[in-house]
Amino acid sequence: MPRRVTGIVMNGVTGRMGYRQHLVRSILAIREQGGLPLGDGEVLWPEPILVGRSAYKLKELADRHGLEHWTTSLDEALAHPLAEIYFDAQVTTAREAALRTAIAAGKHVYTEKPTAESLDSALELARLATAAGVCNGAVQDKLFLPGLLKLKRLVDGGFFGRILSVRGEFGYWVFEGDWQDAQRPSWNYRAEDGGGMVLDMFPHWRYVLDSVIAPVRSVYAHTATHIPRRVDERGRPYPATADDAAYGIFELAGGITAQINSSWAVRVDRDELVEFQVDGTEGSAVAGLRNCRFQHRAATPKPVWNPDLPATEPFRDQWQQVPDNGGFDNGFKVQWELFLRHVATGSEYRWDLLEGAKGVQLAELGLRSAREGRRLDVPDLTLPPRAASEATASTR
Ligand SMILES: NC(=O)c1ccc[n+]([C@@H]2O[C@H](COP(=O)([O-])OP(=O)(O)OC[C@H]3O[C@@H](n4cnc5c(N)ncnc54)[C@H](O)[C@@H]3O)[C@@H](O)[C@H]2O)c1
Repeated sequence: MPRRVTGIVMNGVTGRMGYRQHLVRSILAIREQGGLPLGDGEVLWPEPILVGRSAYKLKELADRHGLEHWTTSLDEALAHPLAEIYFDAQVTTAREAALRTAIAAGKHVYTEKPTAESLDSALELARLATAAGVCNGAVQDKLFLPGLLKLKRLVDGGFFGRILSVRGEFGYWVFEGDWQDAQRPSWNYRAEDGGGMVLDMFPHWRYVLDSVIAPVRSVYAHTATHIPRRVDERGRPYPATADDAAYGIFELAGGITAQINSSWAVRVDRDELVEFQVDGTEGSAVAGLRNCRFQHRAATPKPVWNPDLPATEPFRDQWQQVPDNGGFDNGFKVQWELFLRHVATGSEYRWDLLEGAKGVQLAELGLRSAREGRRLDVPDLTLPPRAASEATASTR
């Protein structure tokens, strides 16, 4: 089969997400399966061009995986003759500048969330990419997880009747870094370095609620920094300046109430690290990352409140599993394949930078809501108008 090689400049591949999910489990996995069939007999072959700050780490990584191209210069990477796409999984604070450079260089761009630190910046990136005519995408990996795909199947099949409410529980204990190493990078706990639960997780909750349940119309958030002092990767104590927990209430279109607790200071008493319970007039479901259990109204028990007696029914046993009915690939890889096809063939792709900006919008409003102690509306987003100079340039 004829092979079409496309160079992907990958920035942030020495980090947790960039390495494991994007390089190894997505791009290298696509190569291991022989490339990405484009449907016309041609196969797309992604060629990573690694870029980052540490020559030593990049060389080690390239050698480990038999990759040819790496550099510590973003300009050099973007100028590589194979480079067509720029991908960003850097720390959030470094993202905007790199995306702007890549768009200005005419590259298609794909990025981790949050797409920027502020809504204005996120919208400006979406506008710049649109004006430059480049394909653009933001990672929305949770949509491609088996548990949420099964939940979406139930929603699309009309299982719930009228959806009433959603309650989400996300979180686990992130060690403080003193007597056991922290399992997340320390910048996550410093607001000045782009950390914080709201900025990290509200972008996810935005696309999950919008896409699986109904569009988000308002937000009320209460945030906390439960653990005020942590110890970093080098063993140095530091003040945790960012929120490590967020308790959010979201109103969705159709009068649905969603309530999501997100915390890095909670111990897990759940089947999965995130779970969403959806209650509807006809039935309920609880979706995690992999599984989704449901209970139809016909199988709903009738508990009666009586604290004098032990629980009368085994409530946890009264749910059924939604069957797989097919195979599920890694969610990050599935979205990469959709984006690569979009770039190569112009196929439809709706998880673009404007969709990414909606996540930043919810995070920004969530933080403001917490500061001001009030509920805030979430207005519809549109791209800002083009600058006058651009408009003049395009009519010449
Ligand atoms: N989609 C998801 O589920 C998901 C999960 C976790 C993180 N993320 C996002 O991915 C991005 C990376 O998160 P991570 O957990 O992999 O972080 P990480 O700290 O493990 O990796 C950060 C990467 O950025 C690079 N970098 C560039 N400039 C830097 C600087 N000034 N300081 C420190 N590092 C710098 C590092 O070298 C490293 O390659 C973040 O934007 C985060 O929001 C997404």
